[in-house]
Order: sequence, then structure tokens, then C-alpha cells
Amino acid sequence: GGLGQLGVGLAEMLRKQYGKENIILSDIRRPPAEVYNMGPFVYADVLDYKNLRELVVNNRITWLVHYSALLSAIGEANLALARTINITGLHNVLDLALENCLRLFVPSTIGAFGPSSPRDPAPDLCIQRPRTIYGVSKVHAELMGEYLHHKYGLDFRCLRYPGVVSAHTKPGGGTTDYAVQIFHDALSTGHHECYLRSNTRLPMMHISDCHRATIEFMQAPESQLSLRTYNIAAMSFTPEEVAEEIRKHLPHLRVTYNPDTIRQTIADSWPVRFDDSNARQDWGWKPAYGLSELVTDMLASIREKRTNAGLPVS
Ligand SMILES: NC(=O)c1ccc[n+]([C@@H]2O[C@H](COP(=O)([O-])OP(=O)(O)OC[C@H]3O[C@@H](n4cnc5c(N)ncnc54)[C@H](O)[C@@H]3O)[C@@H](O)[C@H]2O)c1
Ligand SMILES: *[C@@H]1O[C@H](CO)[C@@H](O)[C@H](O)[C@H]1NC(C)=O
Repeated sequence: GGLGQLGVGLAEMLRKQYGKENIILSDIRRPPAEVYNMGPFVYADVLDYKNLRELVVNNRITWLVHYSALLSAIGEANLALARTINITGLHNVLDLALENCLRLFVPSTIGAFGPSSPRDPAPDLCIQRPRTIYGVSKVHAELMGEYLHHKYGLDFRCLRYPGVVSAHTKPGGGTTDYAVQIFHDALSTGHHECYLRSNTRLPMMHISDCHRATIEFMQAPESQLSLRTYNIAAMSFTPEEVAEEIRKHLPHLRVTYNPDTIRQTIADSWPVRFDDSNARQDWGWKPAYGLSELVTDMLASIREKRTNAGLPVS
């Protein structure tokens, strides 16, 4: 699933450290030219076990990063297909990693917690009874991976990502997407209509911190890991707070609030803060971006993208 929001940037960062030939990007979609020219790319369907095995064997693969998923917008319309890709896909990479002694990374999310979890902060180990199919499938992934680790020694590694904020992707209908859209709106119309209440606090992270956390966690020696699934945090903010920070650069930004019942209910069941003290202690996690760095970077990147595309910038 390497062509999604997270895969391309992760591959780029890994290639800087390990050489471009040593990182193979794969997906079922046709890659854009700039990605195709960046380094090795192959077709791989996470549902096709034999093909995955062939890729691992022929290329002497040692690490596997599992990002393939069918997003909620499409997932709602075709639950059966989303379930197959998410669940069978996970089982395939678990089996493959076990069979070939791979180090396996699987992402989880703040959505793996639910209304009965402690929310401020949410620790690594606590009650997890999410009410969304997204969360349920992520808890399943965490538990399957940990089970295979304890039973057979699978080198399973999982991080619960906060909402990831990136200038290079179009928001796709998720619960934390306003935190990307608000920057685009600030630089175009100057008006953002938010689907969450102004005081809805959620854990968020700049995409480069997300990539760096993933790589540093993968590099950590097994002996340093006291857990197999870690929370990682960088900041927590509300729509009001991020708007206020943007106004330091663009004072004319206007935000109106029109809460969407479904997304508001989901957000209200998620942690407002992540306790990531185990990640900090065990493998030295430390974020580089706080709210003001995030806002400065997002505005600069989106401004540059708009300028390059010949779009007006306010
Ligand atoms: N982006 C975030 O803010 C965020 C936050 C928390 C967790 N995550 C998790 O990280 C992972 C990656 O997220 P993303 O935002 O990059 O997702 P994305 O939807 O942008 O990318 C998923 C990719 O999987 C590919 N895919 C679909 N079906 C496939 C198949 N059968 N075989 C192979 N590939 C297939 C798609 O073509 C797509 O490129 C997901 O598991 C997601 O739940 C993301
Ligand atoms: C599948 O995963 C995507 C992204 O991780 C998520 O949005 C969706 O809700 C999941 N659907 C199912 C049925 O697991």
C-alpha cells in the first residue's frame, strides 16, 4: 500500500538512509511519474499471497511495512471488500513475515480506543472497545501481531499514529482531516467550515515526525522493546487553537463550526492526548514539531504548491 498518504514519504526517508535500491515500493495502482522515477516500484496485491512471497524471496526482503488499506469513504460503500483487504491483507503479511523471519511494521491509530478508554491521556495498555469498524480492525491487528510474537517470536512492531498532518495529500473524509483542510482554506478562500466543535481536542502529528518515528522504531534492537504496540505523540490541539495559530500568519482567517454528528461522535470517543512515555523511554522517541512549527511548515508548503500550480494565494 505504498502509494497512499504515508508510503511515498516513508520510502523517501528510508532511501536516504539505506540507498534507493534497497527500498521497494509497491501498490496495486499505477504510480505517478515522479514516484516511479524515485526508485524501485513493483505491483503487489496484499491479497495475493504467492506474489507477495515471490517478491520477498526474489529480493531477499528483511523488513515489511504494511500500509495497504481501503479507506472509510470507500469502505462504507463496500464493507465486505474493505474487510477483506484490511483483515485478509493483515493475515497474509503476518504469515509471510513469520515464514520468512521478517521484521513487520503495522500501523494502528487513536481510533483503536473507544468511549470506555481513558482519554486524557490514553496509556499504551488500557480498555480498548472502539465503536468503529476501523478501530475494531486495528485492535484485531494489534492483538494478532502480539499473539504471534509471544507464541512464535514474530518480530511484530506496531505504532498507534495520531492524526497525521501533511501538505502533500488531499484529505479523504477521515475524522482528523479538518487539520489539513483548514490550511488549504486559509490560503485560498480564507474561510474554513469545520465539521467538529471548536473545542474538540485530538492528538496530531506532522508527517515527517510520523515517518521518523516509524523508522527509529523499526531500527530499535528487540532487546529495547518492552511492548510491541506503542502510542506516539507530538501535540494535541483543538480546531480553535490551530485557527488561532494560523491567524498569527493570516489574520483574516474565518472559521465557522457546523459539527457533523457522525464524525463528532467518533472524535468524542477518541483520546484527547496520548501517553507516549514508554516510546520515549524504550527507544528514545522525541517529536520535532509542535503546533507553531507545524503551522509554519504547512503554510509554507501549501503556499509553494499553490504558487507552482499557478493558483492564487491569499
Ligand atoms: N494517514 C493517517 O492519518 C493515518 C493515521 C493512523 C493510521 N493510519 C494507517 O496507516 C496506513 C496507511 O495509511 P494511508 O493514509 O497511507 O492510507 P491510504 O489509503 O492513503 O493508502 C493505502 C494504499 O493501499 C493501497 N491498496 C488498496 N488495496 C490494496 C491491495 N489489495 N493491495 C495492495 N495495496 C492496496 C491503495 O492503493 C493505497 O495506495 C493505514 O493502515 C491507516 O489506517 C493512517
Ligand atoms: C479498513 O481500513 C481503513 C484505513 O485503515 C479504514 O478507514 C476502514 O474503516 C477499514 N474498514 C474495515 C472494514 O476494516
